[in-house]
Amino acid sequence: MSTLDWLLNPITAKDFFEQFFEQNPLLIQRDQMDYYDSILSIKDIEHVIDLGKNLSNFDINQSTSDGALDDNLYSFVVQEHNIKIKTGIDKIKIKQLLHKQKCPIVISHVHNALPKLKEFIDQLSIALDGNCYADMFITPPLVSKGFGIHFDLNDVYVMQLYGNKRWEIYESFGYLPDQPHFYYGFKRDDSKYRKLLSIDLEAGNFLYLPRGFIHNVTTRNKLSIHLTIGCLNRKWSDVLTRFNGELASRFDVLGQKVSTTIFNNSCNDLQEIRRIFETELTMKALESCHKNLKERNSGADRPHITSILCSSKSDAATIK
Ligand SMILES: [Fe+2]
Repeated sequence: MSTLDWLLNPITAKDFFEQFFEQNPLLIQRDQMDYYDSILSIKDIEHVIDLGKNLSNFDINQSTSDGALDDNLYSFVVQEHNIKIKTGIDKIKIKQLLHKQKCPIVISHVHNALPKLKEFIDQLSIALDGNCYADMFITPPLVSKGFGIHFDLNDVYVMQLYGNKRWEIYESFGYLPDQPHFYYGFKRDDSKYRKLLSIDLEAGNFLYLPRGFIHNVTTRNKLSIHLTIGCLNRKWSDVLTRFNGELASRFDVLGQKVSTTIFNNSCNDLQEIRRIFETELTMKALESCHKNLKERNSGADRPHITSILCSSKSDAATIK
């Protein structure tokens, strides 16, 4: 059984591409809590957090999300004169933040901490013909805020590893949107969107959301650990952006500033641009751009704590 068939079991990869991929959400409820243990067990998760004690294995990248904590609150810091150096993650403080302050923890690119998970993600990237990465979300019980209602700019494949999580899934915000929320004037108000499904995702379950489907995720009465595999599909617009970049490096006219007066008159520039596209826009050129995008390695980052969210910064100040 291929990696993708295993992830989607009992749906086949063929049916997935025909009926769900970039079209519809897919929910698979398996009555097998340990389905994902071979890829990421609780022991592996402990190992990942232990790795954080040494920053040569792990990074802390402070997110700018609302409510994200200052990373000094959970880091070991060595001070040399007026220079502070972070040397690792304080596992005890992380556990306090998680259990006492109910702060969700996000470990991005966690696949780079575990060889077997990295192999799994690499195989999925091939099967989905995209750039995949895995983020781990550890969320305490009764967290009702988290990231709030939103949509993602990549497809998400959710593996619920432990506990459960409530997913409220709404209609898609347009067809496969590829710009940030503010670009579209997205309102973080769940009453504005048509709800499709409310589901408690249990350990062993799987959920696929195509890019753009609005969702809100909360925990119930249990701690939840889930893996979100994000997959960046190579779109036609990506290929054309790359194509434009390559043309601009070869044809001076494309790098020149556009003068607004040009639009009032017929101009030689437009004729030259038309000629360039007529001769250069070929399937072979686009195939080459697609190949270049495919070879670009986006998975080289070390695992890092993207953010530890908390209900308020004043809560966090009590953990010292
Ligand atoms: Fe999301």
